[in-house]
Amino acid sequence: MKGKDLLSIADLNREDIPLLLSRAVELKAEGWTSSLSEKVLALVFEKPSLRTRVSFEVAMRQLGGHAIYLSPAEVGLGVRESVADVARVLSRYVDAIAARTFAHQTLEVLAQFADVPVINALSDLEHPCQALADLLTIYEKKGELEGLTLAYVGDGNNVAHSLMLASALAGINFRAASPSGYEVRDDLVRLARDYAAESGVEITCMEDPRQAVYEADIIYTDVWTSMGQEAESEKRRVAFAGYQVNGELLRLAEEDAILMHPLPAHYGEEVAEGILETPQSVVFDQAENRMHMQKALLADMLGGLELPLMKYG
Ligand code: CP
Ligand code: NVA
Repeated sequence: MKGKDLLSIADLNREDIPLLLSRAVELKAEGWTSSLSEKVLALVFEKPSLRTRVSFEVAMRQLGGHAIYLSPAEVGLGVRESVADVARVLSRYVDAIAARTFAHQTLEVLAQFADVPVINALSDLEHPCQALADLLTIYEKKGELEGLTLAYVGDGNNVAHSLMLASALAGINFRAASPSGYEVRDDLVRLARDYAAESGVEITCMEDPRQAVYEADIIYTDVWTSMGQEAESEKRRVAFAGYQVNGELLRLAEEDAILMHPLPAHYGEEVAEGILETPQSVVFDQAENRMHMQKALLADMLGGLELPLMKYG
């Protein structure tokens, strides 16, 4: 992936997944290195963040490099200055740009005009860094990826899109249960099914959350109202009322099923109070793994130290 952008999981191929996982496992064990000394990452964010911002900043530090955070108020992408000019100016100072945007198209313009790799740190369409880190968490908890079944319950949003594509590439059966009008996008379902035809798994979409979680190995949910959709939160609470992940729903999954959520969580909405405190919940391991997977991505994209390839499976 050296020098390439990561705007979507579709920018990866099946071979990239084991490579990134093995590098992340290696870097997680290794801790601090100096492989990216003299490298600088710009973080350009149009929306708030805890995990993504901090995990990218610490990842760069642990790799011997440096990160500069630019808040929404500082840059004003497309407001104070055109997106194309921001891309061209930043390219003269830094070695890569990680951007969190409302419109996915803003990322595409950044990537078009930047001379350095652009990483999607969440857009309205996808959250690829989250999905890749989640594959690492699933692998750590289950000891394998291929042949597992993941049930995603809730909004067919950015997190769901990247998770669906990543699951299809990694050989995980993916089921999505969403209310009518809030499903994952058709074009991305078709793309995931193309990947799934090669990896031999199934991508299925349905309305009934009970059907989705039945005997699943992984239950995954995300907020009903994403950043930027706050005006719809009341309407969404009504539409998603039957989609809360609670003890009753979890009992339909495999006994050793794990429960995942990218955080931040809205307790009492998509997750019942207390459910993320149960032993099945792996949400804080997910949050930690954001950093380890992003170290693997950065090391790969910025062409740092060639790490010995360790088989992860
Ligand atoms: N999961 C995630 O991306 O969290 P932040 O919005 O805090 O970065
Ligand atoms: N779907 C959520 C994910 C936050 C990490 C959002 O976009 O706000």
